Amino acid sequence: MISKKVEQAINEQINKELYSEYFYLAMASYFSSEGLSGFENFFLVQVEEERFHMMKMYKFINEKGGRVNLKKIDAPRNEFKSPTEVFELAFKHEQFVTKSINELMDIAIAENDHATKSFLNWFVDEQVEEEDSMSTILQKLRMINGEGYGMIMLDKELSIRVFTPPVK
Ligand code: FEO
Repeated sequence: MISKKVEQAINEQINKELYSEYFYLAMASYFSSEGLSGFENFFLVQVEEERFHMMKMYKFINEKGGRVNLKKIDAPRNEFKSPTEVFELAFKHEQFVTKSINELMDIAIAENDHATKSFLNWFVDEQVEEEDSMSTILQKLRMINGEGYGMIMLDKELSIRVFTPPVK
């Protein structure tokens, strides 16, 4: 069993995860057009991460006997001024997602829904990594001023990222 309130809140979060996937795909495409294939790879892996987050919620709703209710996905921004701007936006977006997960947890607590609270703990931890991943690269970009040899090195570093589905 899952309350309608919790079901609706997770459905809204599913939409945000789908939007995240869409947003990061736009960023991957921007980097592809800039010839930065390592950065592109970083965001393509991020797209897979977001799909994983969304599917985790999809499975949870279904396991709890609820109903997934898909909504319209807003169009993301497709044009960016610089790699630094992309990471500023990505970091800001992850902060927004963290806030949203926290609000979702608040609803589960108010509903005294222990299973959903336990389920959401994974996302609370995951968001620490999500924010850190974006802010670390943003810091590096600021250090190298988003240009020169540093960009080649950073592009190389980001080219080795692979998507590894978490065990749980
Ligand atoms: Fe699904 Fe990047 O948070």
